[in-house]
Amino acid sequence: MSPPFTNSNGCPIPDPLASQRIGKHGPLLLQDFNLIDSLAHFDRERIPERVVHAKGSGAFGYFEVTDDITDICSSKFLDTIGKKTKTFTRFSTVGGESGSADAARDPRGFSTKLYTEEGNLDLVYNNTPVFFLRDPTKFPHFIHTQKRSPETHLKDPNMFWDYLTSNEESAHQVTILFSDRGTPASYREMNGYSGHTYKWSNKNGDWHYVQVHFISDQGIKTLTNEEAGELSGSNPDHAQEDLFKQIAKGNHPSWTAYIQTMTAEQAKAAPFSVFDLTKVWPHKDYPLRRFGKLVLNENPKNYFADVEQAAFSPSHTVPYMEPSADPVLQSRLFSYPDTHRHRLGVNYQQIPVNCPVAGVFNPHMRDGLMNVNGNLGSTPNYFSATNQFKTEEFKLQEEQEVWEGAACPFHWKATDAEFTQAQALYKTLARYPNQQKNLAHNVAVHALAADHAIQDRVIAYFAKVSQELADNIKKEMYELSPRK
Ligand code: NDP
Ligand code: HEM
Repeated sequence: MSPPFTNSNGCPIPDPLASQRIGKHGPLLLQDFNLIDSLAHFDRERIPERVVHAKGSGAFGYFEVTDDITDICSSKFLDTIGKKTKTFTRFSTVGGESGSADAARDPRGFSTKLYTEEGNLDLVYNNTPVFFLRDPTKFPHFIHTQKRSPETHLKDPNMFWDYLTSNEESAHQVTILFSDRGTPASYREMNGYSGHTYKWSNKNGDWHYVQVHFISDQGIKTLTNEEAGELSGSNPDHAQEDLFKQIAKGNHPSWTAYIQTMTAEQAKAAPFSVFDLTKVWPHKDYPLRRFGKLVLNENPKNYFADVEQAAFSPSHTVPYMEPSADPVLQSRLFSYPDTHRHRLGVNYQQIPVNCPVAGVFNPHMRDGLMNVNGNLGSTPNYFSATNQFKTEEFKLQEEQEVWEGAACPFHWKATDAEFTQAQALYKTLARYPNQQKNLAHNVAVHALAADHAIQDRVIAYFAKVSQELADNIKKEMYELSPRK
């Protein structure tokens, strides 16, 4: 049995479904707090949805250290083989609204919060190892073209392809997106990649550039374009349903975690910049090294409390793990906490799903909307000779990278060399049945909705990946929509 029904200030309400009025059919009374309280609360139920990655699913779990990498990183949660750290993971699509279809052709977000003894570590990853851009000023432009037209409020294939073909550094990511990996069968059957290069170090001050891979223990499973289209109509929430039901059944999905590492010298010698988010580190040159396992074993009891209010940021990090100078990553460090302050409020870190298990003590950050943790009581809220706060030392990497140069605007323009890794991927696809063919088909049926001039640009763009691919795209487009 539930406890007795009350209004929001705890006063028992004997008949919650009766409204106070004059006589049986007369107007309502302003004094009826039960009615006004419930309507006013209902009116405010929605918070802003995430500006990207609005549709998502989440689960609690744990990260377990399986192999020693203390030579690379001295973060405490990695210090012992077998050590487990509680986690919360949220998967998402990117471009659609919070009610949109899980089967959409889109990258998938793969964010994990590790509640470590040194504070929360957020791994805010995607299921693809690269991205559409490497200059953060392009991000709002890019996202606008993947969402709705400001005029028609429709998804617009012209602006979608106009942007991508005008920004050729996108070709590697777009080739992945239009392969069948652009439509994963479920959140369980896809990988997660840091994409960005990070900087990890050990207590001796040795440091490495690092890329992280979470490889699905369920294997990779994808949908064809047609299966994804059908599923979007018949069950727009198929990935949410799959994740929730599999975990409820005790079928706990897991991922094996690996790193790739580079020294500063290796990075200088690499044929690409480690700060270029459109590039992967080839496996044969930078082999994967296993270090852990992520297991999801507990569904949230309440979707809004945990999944909707989860606030991830690449800037939520722990000692010995730092961002690299990748400009997209640098911008993300600002953008996520900024949007959380807008979406959830300045005290978003006090919401239980976001609250670190490590003690938080920053007494100058006080008050603000929805401060609910006691606000540090009478502790002084300033630092001075009389109010000294204890601090904990860990070795800062002061000599790691030394930057010098004039402040200048810099356009990281695309060249034909951009296409090298997309070309490698196209060749890789030949190893998998139908994958080169499906890529051509998936592009053709999508770009068919664009104007002829844009279609021609799509064909020219993919010709730089592979002439065979471009020919196949063109052939199918012309067959499906003959040009007069
Ligand atoms: P490898 O031959 O060592 O690796 C090929 C990789 O391609 C495998 O990880 C495979 O994943 C992945 N793959 C297969 N199909 C697709 C697809 N449709 N979309 C994305 N990835 C796919 O080669 P390299 O390391 O030299 O990389 C070659 C290309 O593979 C890259 O240009 C990149 O596009 C892609 N790739 C590379 C990754 C890396 O970190 N090096 C990571 C992921 C993709 P699996 O083994 O799970 O089937
Ligand atoms: C979500 C900004 C690039 C992965 C978001 C959100 C913003 C944002 C504002 C919404 C967050 C929220 O409301 O909680 C940006 C900017 C980028 C960028 C400005 C580039 C300049 C990337 C890249 C990746 C990525 C490169 C992956 C490597 C994600 C994920 C989420 C997300 C996984 C969903 C987080 C969640 O589950 O709550 N991004 N993003 N983003 N972004 Fe990015």
